Amino acid sequence: MKEKLEQLRRQTAEALEALSDKKALEELRVRVMGKKGSLTELLRGMGALPAEERPKVGQLVNRLRQELQEKFDAREAALESAAKARRLEAERLDVTMPGKRRPAGGLHPLNQVLEELIDIFQSMGFDVVDGPEVETEHYCFEALNVPKDHPARDMQDTFYLGENLLLRTQTSAAQIRVMEGRTPPIRIICPGRVYRADEVDATHSPVFHQVEGLVVDKGVTMCDLKGVLEQFAREIYGPETRVRFRPSFFPFTEPSVEVDVSCSECGGKGCRICKGVGWIEILGAGMVHPNVLSVCGIDPEVYSGFAFGIGLDRLTTTRHRISDIRLLFENDRRFLSQFAE
Ligand code: DAH
Repeated sequence: MKEKLEQLRRQTAEALEALSDKKALEELRVRVMGKKGSLTELLRGMGALPAEERPKVGQLVNRLRQELQEKFDAREAALESAAKARRLEAERLDVTMPGKRRPAGGLHPLNQVLEELIDIFQSMGFDVVDGPEVETEHYCFEALNVPKDHPARDMQDTFYLGENLLLRTQTSAAQIRVMEGRTPPIRIICPGRVYRADEVDATHSPVFHQVEGLVVDKGVTMCDLKGVLEQFAREIYGPETRVRFRPSFFPFTEPSVEVDVSCSECGGKGCRICKGVGWIEILGAGMVHPNVLSVCGIDPEVYSGFAFGIGLDRLTTTRHRISDIRLLFENDRRFLSQFAE
């Protein structure tokens, strides 16, 4: 009996060493320690022994059971830690490897200047509104005091999309939509694309950008217009910037002005940027024509207002000393990357 126990101890130890996964270990555990296992069988065989030997052999069997139990547990733990080590080795990351760099984009210079401009006007209490790029003649011309066949229409070469439908030639169209939809006080800017049938050259493009501004309230005067534009020009071009008004004509304003800022490059002495005149024209403006207020249902006897239309492309090219407007539309990355932050 003793030999049988010894043999079982040895065989089990060898089998445990030889196996290499938990499944095989569990099978072996059942075969040795299970209800029908070898050890249980040995115990059953004890019945054949003389009575005085039984307690002793019983002790031996129990000790072996204990011992094998520990051996199984130890082997199981060893297998588990080996498996874990293998898994970690397989999943190892080399944190010293160089990462993949994704080229980051940046805001287009037009959008950078636009964001700056929006900040300035918002700080003065203006709302930002949007208007459709496909407009009717009513909003783009008629309501802006430009009747059919009026010579002022020749100022803008229009892309027509059909009878009465066109690509807006000016963001001024948004003025009408805003005045129709709101009651004064009104303080808005409307940035967006505008279209004209112009030949492409260094200063012309069939699509360009304007920012329309409109203020309507009781007692609004041209002094308010000048104050707002001076504040804007100083924030964009620097605190020394001067603003000058030149008389002009727009059908939707009376009086109308062309607005120049002193050249930020030369301070007004004259240079290449301002073509020697010391001033740069950046926008058109004026007091909203009474006819325009009336068309929108606003009483010109009670309310007055001013409006302006800033050329965003011009603002951007002079601001960044860009010599050719086409650069703003070609999206050459060698150009754009110079403006990425
Ligand atoms: N819409 C004009 C243009 O495209 C610019 C302009 C002038 C807008 C005077 C205005 C304004 O709102 O009052 O040339």
